[in-house]
Amino acid sequence: MSGPLPPGPPLPASIQTVLWLARPVGYPTWVARRYGDPHRLCLTFSGDLVLTADPALVPGVLGLRAEVASAGEANALLAPLLGSRSLLMLDGPEHLRLRRLLGPAFRGEAVRQHRAAIADLTRREVARWPRGTPFPLLPRMRALTLEVILRVVFGLEAGPRLDLLRRLLVELLAMGSSWMVLPGARRDLGAWSPWGRFLRLKARIDALLEEEIAERRRSGPGRGLLAELLVDETHGLGVRDLRDQLLTLLVAGHETTATTLAWCFELLLRHPEAAERARVDPPYLEAVVRETLRLRPIFRMTSRRLRRPLELGSYHLPPGVSVGAAIYLAHRHPEVYPDPERFRPERFRGTTPEPGAWIPFGGGIRRCLGAAFASFEMAVVVGTVLDSVRLRPASETPEPISLHAVVLVPGHGTRVVADRAPTG
Ligand code: HEM
Repeated sequence: MSGPLPPGPPLPASIQTVLWLARPVGYPTWVARRYGDPHRLCLTFSGDLVLTADPALVPGVLGLRAEVASAGEANALLAPLLGSRSLLMLDGPEHLRLRRLLGPAFRGEAVRQHRAAIADLTRREVARWPRGTPFPLLPRMRALTLEVILRVVFGLEAGPRLDLLRRLLVELLAMGSSWMVLPGARRDLGAWSPWGRFLRLKARIDALLEEEIAERRRSGPGRGLLAELLVDETHGLGVRDLRDQLLTLLVAGHETTATTLAWCFELLLRHPEAAERARVDPPYLEAVVRETLRLRPIFRMTSRRLRRPLELGSYHLPPGVSVGAAIYLAHRHPEVYPDPERFRPERFRGTTPEPGAWIPFGGGIRRCLGAAFASFEMAVVVGTVLDSVRLRPASETPEPISLHAVVLVPGHGTRVVADRAPTG
């Protein structure tokens, strides 16, 4: 039996959605203060959405099994972009099987052996930056993380296919995805209509990825985290299945990592003593990355849609309701994080973050597949940049938090001025 849902604003979904988009941090924070934990929002794209930031409840929500709650259904809108076989579209045993196949490539030593490649790509990127004039770092970080995925994850070699793929992907990613959710927008009215352009671009990208996989299967695995998986024909994944996973990893891993890097530099620019220490002290650099993910998580929440009733605290939630972890709010829990708005990497020095209170990568069976890779990549990029160039903020005012599609970004893209390299 289901009782009343947790309390929330008595506003129509349309108005709450406008507030959710226009006041990306202010509105969810106000709702949590006013209505407590758990509380309920109602948004046009999710319907009733029950959120908790309570470290005691969060692991239970993120750890829900697929029979109880689905994440794939909520991602269905992305199917035209990622393909119907994408990990993000699947639930249950199919999802788990695919995770088991992809997972090992993104862990431990598999990831660490790409340190030199990531550092090298970073140095090449830094060499292109203007000296002495302000520029935003976020677009530069997007270019870098795209290159890291194409070279280090997919293992593409320099050449015409990589150049074309990069150009088409930049075009595709620049199209944005928010308008695609409008049913009326999904009409192919020829190559000049937005949907028609999207479909044609996507078909060209698919063809290039399929060509790459087919060629590796003929001539050997090559390099990259996924090298072995792409050529292994015993796991039963066809060229198209693999192609969908490649695009999924790119979409899931590119903007996310680039934005967190832009935030990390923004925070370090405002804390030069931390930047200097991060340059020479690797465990401290790791703590800087963790503290950035805490203080500036790029997603406000991650949610699942209930298939079965769920007991959450003293509430009984019915099927159909969405339930999620409020990432931004959980990272500000004053009992876990004293002085939560302060950037203090020392919090994470030599300690493991508390599972229910540090959730930038979500949790449970849907936890970010690239979490270890992203953390490693970010530490290598930040360390290499700090070693290669002296950065200062272009303005004395810290960057505001803005929303770009579903991601919380630095409002001006972390504007910096690059000077000479540090010595010593
Ligand atoms: C700082 C960078 C990143 C952040 C903050 C981030 C965050 C997240 C979050 C919050 C989720 C949802 C988890 C959940 O609902 O419990 C997710 C899922 C996912 N992420 Fe990441 N991510 C990052 C980088 C990456 C990278 C580099 C890759 C791969 C190259 C990646 C691949 C994925 C995939 C495949 C999923 C879906 C997992 C599934 O549904 O089973 N992410 N990520």
